[in-house]
Amino acid sequence: MSIDKKFLNLFTKVTEKAAIGASKYIGKKDKIAADKGAVDPMRRELNKINMEGTVVIGEGEMDEAPMLYIGEKLGTLNGPKFDIAVDPLEGTKFTANGESNAFSVLAISERGGLLSAPDTYMEKIAIGSNLPKNLMDLDHGVEKNIKLLAEAKNKKINELKACILKRPRHDHIVKVLNKLSVKINYITDGDIVGALSVIGDNPKNDIYYSTGGAPEGVVVAAALSCYGGQIQGRLVLDEEGRVKAKKLGITDYDKKYNIEDMVKGDVIFCATGVTNGDLAKGVKDLGNEYEVNSFVLHKSQKTIKSITNIYNK
Ligand code: FBP
Repeated sequence: MSIDKKFLNLFTKVTEKAAIGASKYIGKKDKIAADKGAVDPMRRELNKINMEGTVVIGEGEMDEAPMLYIGEKLGTLNGPKFDIAVDPLEGTKFTANGESNAFSVLAISERGGLLSAPDTYMEKIAIGSNLPKNLMDLDHGVEKNIKLLAEAKNKKINELKACILKRPRHDHIVKVLNKLSVKINYITDGDIVGALSVIGDNPKNDIYYSTGGAPEGVVVAAALSCYGGQIQGRLVLDEEGRVKAKKLGITDYDKKYNIEDMVKGDVIFCATGVTNGDLAKGVKDLGNEYEVNSFVLHKSQKTIKSITNIYNK
């Protein structure tokens, strides 16, 4: 079974409206207002779609998020059953500070197709397409993974480029990469864009190697499953995280999730730029209208495209 292609435009409209909502807060130094600016229209638009959607990756758990919480039902409840991963505003800080790479994103599968991950950290390694399956393994350690990647890509180690989320928790990774003379491209936030920088005809990076949000990991897996790239992730769980994971039915806390453990079957992925970024251009205020740009994928249709639309204010 696959998702009818008519849903691509419907879901794109959702991220477009969410991006417009968030764009009103660009540079206003208020992360929470910017997030809410995206969440409200996203929920409103999702509820217009003829589907029975269930949020599997959301803004939090039912008791901590007023809307778009894990388990929330969305849509008219009259239509196909979908799993929905939402990140209404990826890059709340980027939006608040008026920096690039903020966007609104959704991933959709048929019911049961997306891992419902807790709102915890996840160790992640992402690589691009046309590489041997499950080439990377979090347990290999940085040096072995880099050597395997260089060999598989037929490149010298010092020709490889790695994307790293700049956090002290990654110092041990950086140390090894420096020792091997791998070029590092740091990001300050926004690890969906970081992880997706390994795809495309001329990828910015050969590997993404960092620990970021687990929900973002599943969203990346959804996009990579359309593109042919790979990701391996492992949840980082403290006591509280284990409780959250258990609530979602996860009992193997040390499991390494390969792409097929996070995403099954057909997938739609839509990302609409809030500010200009690597995936899409930001919302343009044209006076009486908004121009919005999205990067969209539909696995079964082999769709990979950029869409621009105009909305009246
Ligand atoms: P938000 O936009 O939702 O705040 O997330 C930004 C982000 O950089 C994610 O892309 C990343 O996965 C996570 O935060 C990293 O978390 P932390 O800032 O705690 O290291």
